[in-house]
Amino acid sequence: MNNNIVLIGFMGSGKTAVGKRLANKLKMGFFDTDENIEKVSGMSIGKIFNDYGEIRFRSEETLAVKRACALNNSVIATGGGAVLIPENLELLKKSGVIVALDASPEEIQKRVSKRNSFRPLLGNDKSLENITRLLKKRVPVYQQANYRVDTTGKELETVVDEIMELLKNNE
Ligand code: S3P
Repeated sequence: MNNNIVLIGFMGSGKTAVGKRLANKLKMGFFDTDENIEKVSGMSIGKIFNDYGEIRFRSEETLAVKRACALNNSVIATGGGAVLIPENLELLKKSGVIVALDASPEEIQKRVSKRNSFRPLLGNDKSLENITRLLKKRVPVYQQANYRVDTTGKELETVVDEIMELLKNNE
């Protein structure tokens, strides 16, 4: 098994921001599946969804997950839907320890409603009902993580420190 730290969780749970900071503090590499998809395809996630649809996005995502899993000593931030594909979850489990970032639907709504936060999967419906509905479907998958950290109402630094503390006990 590789020694990566894999962050999973719903949109707006903070995977990218927490992952970058965690990698920096632990002096590990950082890999973000969404960022990698954009780099390799030369298109934004929004454009891929818009012009080619979700199925095309998911196939790009599986390729990005495979690239991530070939790494070692890295923090991997995944897109919120990446682990819904069982093959991706299995690969990620083999590549390191899985940490799920949780947040309440209200907190998620607050974070995804920020001006620069475009989430094609939610489209224009950032209602609590829609977020809760999607979240409910996904929680059973996120629950498969080795560790779960609730990020609701917490500063980035607090979340990062909590993860570091949890992983200390994992050594
Ligand atoms: C998605 C989450 C997004 C991005 C894409 C689809 C999802 O990433 O991969 O828009 O299915 O939940 P974030 O979780 O970083 O928002």
